[in-house]
Amino acid sequence: MEYVIEMLNIRKEFNGFVANDNITLQLKKGEIHALLGENGAGKSTLMNVLFGLYQPEQGEIRVKGNPVNITNPNIANDLGIGMVHQHFMLVDTFSVTENIILGREITSGGRIDLKKAERDVRDISERYGLAVDPQAKISDISVGMQQRVEILKTLYRGAEIVIFDEPSAVLTPQEIKELMQIMKTLIKEGKSIILITHKLKEIMEVADRCTVIRKGKGIGTVNVSETNPNELASLMVGREVVFKTEKKEATPRNNVLEVNDLTVKDSRGVSVVNGLDLTVKAGEIVGIAGVDGNGQSELIEAITGLRKAENGSIKLNGKELMNQTPRKITESGVGHIPQDRHKHGLVLNFPIGENMVLQTYNKRPFSSNGILNFKEIYKKAKSLITEFDVRTPSEYTLARALSGGNQQKAIIGREVDRNPDLLIAAQPTRGLDVGAIEFIHKRLIEQRDNGKAVLLVSFELDEILNVSDKIAVIYEGKIVAVVNPKETSEEELGLLMAGSNRKEAGEHSHV
Ligand SMILES: Nc1ncnc2c1ncn2[C@@H]1O[C@H](COP(=O)(O)OP(=O)(O)OP(=O)(O)O)[C@@H](O)[C@H]1O
Ligand SMILES: [Mg+2]
Repeated sequence: MEYVIEMLNIRKEFNGFVANDNITLQLKKGEIHALLGENGAGKSTLMNVLFGLYQPEQGEIRVKGNPVNITNPNIANDLGIGMVHQHFMLVDTFSVTENIILGREITSGGRIDLKKAERDVRDISERYGLAVDPQAKISDISVGMQQRVEILKTLYRGAEIVIFDEPSAVLTPQEIKELMQIMKTLIKEGKSIILITHKLKEIMEVADRCTVIRKGKGIGTVNVSETNPNELASLMVGREVVFKTEKKEATPRNNVLEVNDLTVKDSRGVSVVNGLDLTVKAGEIVGIAGVDGNGQSELIEAITGLRKAENGSIKLNGKELMNQTPRKITESGVGHIPQDRHKHGLVLNFPIGENMVLQTYNKRPFSSNGILNFKEIYKKAKSLITEFDVRTPSEYTLARALSGGNQQKAIIGREVDRNPDLLIAAQPTRGLDVGAIEFIHKRLIEQRDNGKAVLLVSFELDEILNVSDKIAVIYEGKIVAVVNPKETSEEELGLLMAGSNRKEAGEHSHV
């Protein structure tokens, strides 16, 4: 039998909203099969159907040719199907091993045999090249490591088919390379993979075939060796996509953000921002390039009031704002698209409409005399949802039920709409499809053209080079170089980010 999994003519509705409309996906044994589609196209929904989290209204699923009824994830596991979710499902306070064996505990004499489990975990992790510390606590390990734990969890349960839902969206470039390697090893060990990703480069690099869906409908399946990124992009979006954003010269004016001699400690008390200086002017986009863990997260947290700074100064339009409350900082004219949209961006159990006024609900016209005016709130929400193309069944849908990329678009819409003097965008296009990325880049440039200051932090060097007017390279908590994007290259940035000095990296005029 050629196919290990067949999903035939699947239909899935949510209260009348059709998320999957007659979709077919057939997975061959030993292939990496990419699933591509815009934000909200229905990719996660389709995979949740395969994993038994949702029941389809129509269609058939076959495993090795046999029709099956996957009514819950345990049945999926028993059929050899494992899933690494878009948002991890680990217990923070448990160890790596405890998370992996959760629900599958081996007991001896009524007690959990943790030692045996740790040995098993170590065996599997060595076999598949997934280095982890079986005893580490989840809250102490990096996101990349947590993802390995999710993968190990599926392998421990005997998965033959592994579904990856946007695994690289949360990873650094180095971790992505390692993940690609891990997937190739899984294939060598006889597994088959379904990979959801918005990164066409990744599809071109590791996938054998690619199924494209658009607005809930199947568009077709192509052989990756016979296609290219442009064709994939237009198949999914239904139009040509421009990969390079057009923009005119910046006309920088007064200093909006001035950070001087800033020192910030991380959660373990280690100083990770070390006497940092940074200026962002009205009418320019400054991009921060750096390897993860060089202080960029703590810098942003300090500017936005989410983390205490030890020393230095943070001025907005000449006014000192260091160690003020997040609300005070927001109201002084700072907008923030946060890196972690679940922790800092959205209240998941609120309707998406109410999430659109999280910073402004206490102001007119959204409330008066302490009473919320829901009519105005939802009117605003509706217009932002249209403007930013947030694909949701309605403005009353809970934020939790929106697709990952549409949650992100909602946050961006809310923050841009407030028209802040300083807009801080941390990994703003993480998890977005190519069309949405194009749109967001245009909006950031538009803010700049309207005379606002924009601070962009991104691990995507393409994005930094494409969008910024100036690039500030952060290394060990300091800005070590400021370069002109037109006069630099990914190679030079890479060297600067690794701490080599400007002379070695190639000299450029200061901007
Ligand atoms: N539990 C739910 N209730 C209501 N609507 C839902 C639910 N889950 C998903 N949807 C809707 O179904 C559509 C498809 O969502 P899905 O999460 O499958 O998209 P996706 O292709 O994975 O997008 P992304 O790339 O942004 O992750 C979206 O419009 C979403 O809002
Ligand atoms: Mg998804």
